[in-house]
Amino acid sequence: LVSRLGSRAIVFVGLMGAGKTSIGRRVAQALDLPFVDSDHEIETVSRLTVPELFERYGEPEFRALEHRVIERLVREGAGVVSTGGGAFMNAQTRTIVAEHAISVWLKADLDVLMDRVSKRQTRPLLKTADPRATMAKLMDDRYPTYAQADLTIESRDEKREVITAEVIEAL
Ligand code: S3P
Repeated sequence: LVSRLGSRAIVFVGLMGAGKTSIGRRVAQALDLPFVDSDHEIETVSRLTVPELFERYGEPEFRALEHRVIERLVREGAGVVSTGGGAFMNAQTRTIVAEHAISVWLKADLDVLMDRVSKRQTRPLLKTADPRATMAKLMDDRYPTYAQADLTIESRDEKREVITAEVIEAL
């Protein structure tokens, strides 16, 4: 499998709470590849947290930085990259990912997403009066675009090991 990947990265896309970081990390471990989370990388290069970036510079600046970081990561080649939920909505990012990586959409239903994000309330986009309605709207807006990923894996409320194995099987 690793030789079939060549220099291509494996890029996880999908909504907040879909499990991109935890499954991505496990897939990387299983394949003995480096793992990078794009939000974490953005925080490292900017020396700010994602909520701080949104607050101080606004979402468009965050998106521009996100694109540059992901472009660099996928061009660097082999490895596993988990992206923030909005990253794949950028057409330029999708083009770069299509050229240099295999993309995996971790798809989850609303209950699973809300259950996972409620455990860690650090998402600026969900600081709304009704986070569940906001998430439902994001599903409507984004699912047609996420569906352009090379692979789709259902991230059900199941053991992470099972989902990890399903991803590796599908690659
Ligand atoms: C976002 C998702 C977040 C983070 C930022 C915006 C989005 O990443 O990049 O809060 O637009 O869906 P996670 O998907 O890792 O939570």
